[in-house]
Amino acid sequence: MNIPFNKPYTTGKELIYLEQALHTRQLAGGGAFTKKCTAWLEQSVGCRKALLTHSCTAALEMTALLADIKPGDEVIMPSYTFVSTANAFVLRGSVPVFVDIREDTLNIDESKIEAAITPKTKAIVPVHYAGVACEMDAIMAIAGKYNLLVIEDAAQGVKSGYKGRPLGSIGHMAAFSFHETKNIVSGEGGALLVNDLRFMERAEYILEKGTNRSKFFRGEVDKYTWVDIGSSFLTSEIVAACLFAQLEAEDQITQRRMEIWDHYHRAFSALEDAGKIRRPIIPQECQHNAHMYYLLLSDLDKRTRFIERLKSQGISTVFHYVPLDTSPMGKKVARTVDTLKHTHDLSDRLVRLPLWPGLEEHLATVIDSVITAITP
Ligand SMILES: Cc1ncc(COP(=O)(O)O)c(C=O)c1O
Repeated sequence: MNIPFNKPYTTGKELIYLEQALHTRQLAGGGAFTKKCTAWLEQSVGCRKALLTHSCTAALEMTALLADIKPGDEVIMPSYTFVSTANAFVLRGSVPVFVDIREDTLNIDESKIEAAITPKTKAIVPVHYAGVACEMDAIMAIAGKYNLLVIEDAAQGVKSGYKGRPLGSIGHMAAFSFHETKNIVSGEGGALLVNDLRFMERAEYILEKGTNRSKFFRGEVDKYTWVDIGSSFLTSEIVAACLFAQLEAEDQITQRRMEIWDHYHRAFSALEDAGKIRRPIIPQECQHNAHMYYLLLSDLDKRTRFIERLKSQGISTVFHYVPLDTSPMGKKVARTVDTLKHTHDLSDRLVRLPLWPGLEEHLATVIDSVITAITP
């Protein structure tokens, strides 16, 4: 038996759209499939502008350029996140300032943000862990009070919501991921979402190597030229063709993931009642997208043995972020506020279970193995 942790789902339409894209002979970015994807995102998220990028990492790097982050500026974020959240800003010479996470959602603890603010603070980067929203009302209020930007790292948050508002539509800017480990995939891929009108024009320049090429293609200028800094962040039509097939099937994909998530959640309720594990907590104001199912075990040793035991049965389960403040680079470039107690405790105890459309036929086996591993 071999049950992988992740198996990227394909809808069957990817090849059809790829063939159409190849047929048009317009393979660079900005063609028909790019437009369909950005229109879908703008409509579905309700953001002012969506731009397809190579990855969420690239989209985050664009936000750092748009926010005009300079050496010495500070950017507040959790340490419990993927390296790109921090790297995008460190590339501009800024200092990541790590704040602890909440015990319930593993999202940045909004009550600790204010204490981390200094005259050098430029932005707050909430990471919506497991597609469960951060406490965005509180975060936006703090940002408003101190005149800071909010950049949502919504890598895992496509189609999730907060008080009925889609993630990616709340901060000044946001970034999505379509990496093969996410709900909607295009191999590598991402999107920058812009909500603040101030950034609309520059976002297009930065995407297209610092040129006004997009304006040229819309007939707004008669030739295109170098107008700003930028890089090659735009993704190709080949990737956009795959992505559009996935976006069109988004409802079915989320529904299948949700059924598996709910199934896990019901199956492990007795273990939680017996005090053996803790299941994910979804606050009432959060509408999640079933991106991830995890369990919190009682300690690191138990988690290590759990992962090994399931591996010996052919079931792949994985831990998640090694806190960035403990990494060699984090120690060199970042500042930490307070003790990050929950960050270190929870990251030692968290284990993620397989979750992908198609897992249904193995679900009973996985659940049995998990229950037996925890209550031998
Ligand atoms: C919170 C977070 N931010 C950013 C990224 C980077 O996404 P990508 O692989 O699309 O660059 C990830 C990837 O898993 C992530 O989990």
